Amino acid sequence: MLADLILHSSPALAVSIGVALVLTLAFARIQQNRKIKALGGRAKVLPTKSLGINNVLTTVKYAKADRNRELWDERIAEYGTHTMEMEVLTKRIIMSTDPENIKAVLATQFHDYGKGENFHESWFEFLGDSIFTTDGKQWQESRALIRTQFMKDRIADLHTFERHLQHMFSRLPMDGSPINISDWVFRFTLDTGTDFILGETVNSIANAKVEFSRAFADVQAHMNLVTRVGPFRHVLSKRKFHKDLKILNAFVEPFVERTLAMSVEDLKGKKENEYNFLHALAQYTRDPRMLRDQLVAVLIAARDTTAGTLAWCFYELSKKPQIVKKIRAEVLNKLGPDGIPTYSDLKEMKYVMNVINETLRLYPAVPFNIRVALKDTTLPRGNANNENEPVGMPAGTAFAYSPLVMQRRADIFGEDVLEFSPERWEGRAPKSWQYIPFNGGPRICVGQQFALTQMQYFLARMFQRYETVENAMGPDHRQFEKCEITITPGNDVKVFMKPAKYN
Ligand code: HEM
Repeated sequence: MLADLILHSSPALAVSIGVALVLTLAFARIQQNRKIKALGGRAKVLPTKSLGINNVLTTVKYAKADRNRELWDERIAEYGTHTMEMEVLTKRIIMSTDPENIKAVLATQFHDYGKGENFHESWFEFLGDSIFTTDGKQWQESRALIRTQFMKDRIADLHTFERHLQHMFSRLPMDGSPINISDWVFRFTLDTGTDFILGETVNSIANAKVEFSRAFADVQAHMNLVTRVGPFRHVLSKRKFHKDLKILNAFVEPFVERTLAMSVEDLKGKKENEYNFLHALAQYTRDPRMLRDQLVAVLIAARDTTAGTLAWCFYELSKKPQIVKKIRAEVLNKLGPDGIPTYSDLKEMKYVMNVINETLRLYPAVPFNIRVALKDTTLPRGNANNENEPVGMPAGTAFAYSPLVMQRRADIFGEDVLEFSPERWEGRAPKSWQYIPFNGGPRICVGQQFALTQMQYFLARMFQRYETVENAMGPDHRQFEKCEITITPGNDVKVFMKPAKYN
């Protein structure tokens, strides 16, 4: 609009408008600097050229090479601080791997920070007003609704896991041929996820080429890009995104329609074995868009996170036969060769739990995350003049943080920080705020217990059936961290697994 006005004005008027614009921007900048100073000051500032385009280009270059973590590490080493800032098109972004700052944003100053309107707007087409995209009262209502579905008695029902695991076992080779375990864990979590949430599975274990699965992955990849390019998102093409969204909706919406055709009384009268997450939600809201949004949000949250973690776990185990032996010893001791685990059996298998904790330390499923200041506020630490002093955060300032980078800090986890060592957790609980794979504070992952139970179940049953995990990717294989919304192995994890023999 402004460009039109300038183009269609007389030269003198155009110059005046241009000058007014520059002055307005300069004035806004002075005001912002004053505000930042009054609130606490700046963190160390990355060099900014051409309105910060240099920083965007560097971020994109590293992201394209799947080296997001390396970029953070290099900057931390270069600037000697765990909190720094940059500017992109006048927008200020703070980056931090300081547990104190993360704790403030996620917990002690929870009401000062949130996902923000920009995030809500850019994700709206995909996830509407769901738990993922909202703040304040709207978020609180979604959270209350969804949390009830993750109470212990619902999670302790392990039949769904067993059913899909047996289906997977019926297809996994038992002749020592290589197994693409990363592919299988993604199929397993998609089938259990859709079963738990919708009451019907997409059955990707039987049919790897489910279109829904591909569209679901591609929609998320598009949304990841949207989030990363920030203000440049408007130039991205949405054609493929809309096509994929249609496929996704065509799958989910019939379930919503069928469920809404039932009365609340019918839903309440459902037997336990016919009851699913959608039935439960439909007792509280009859709004089809709201139901669809919440279902898709939970499906996203549930699927790639757990699958990625299991894939990384097998990747690490393929390098550490002694850890596989210890897992098996614990599993066989507790369950024997074919005992079906109960919820409390799983909770008592401490070593298996430590293996999962350690996987989530090196590969926290959501490796990078972002919040925005919802009002003028502060961060407790990271000031450029004195690390222990606060940083000013006027409303709208973005705060990016990385559990991935933080959980590999040698000053927190010791010199062996890059070593996969479940033993490091023995006798020590994961320290809060230094270890946050599930986030923390009021917005902590609502599916944490569900996810842990599912992964423990998977490992326990697998290691009753198989006794070794060996690398089938060759000695020169290259693995890398593919960081989109979640972190997954960039190359397939292929392993040889020797079936266990019992006399
Ligand atoms: C290894 C497995 C998992 C990990 C590491 C994980 C991690 C996380 C993290 C870091 C967040 C915070 C995202 C944010 O606010 O920016 C989150 C939120 C969430 N997770 Fe998980 N998650 C896992 C599995 C699951 C599962 C299985 C479910 C559901 C079945 C689930 C449901 C959710 C939901 C609904 C939220 C949104 C919570 C809110 O905003 O109040 N997650 N998860």
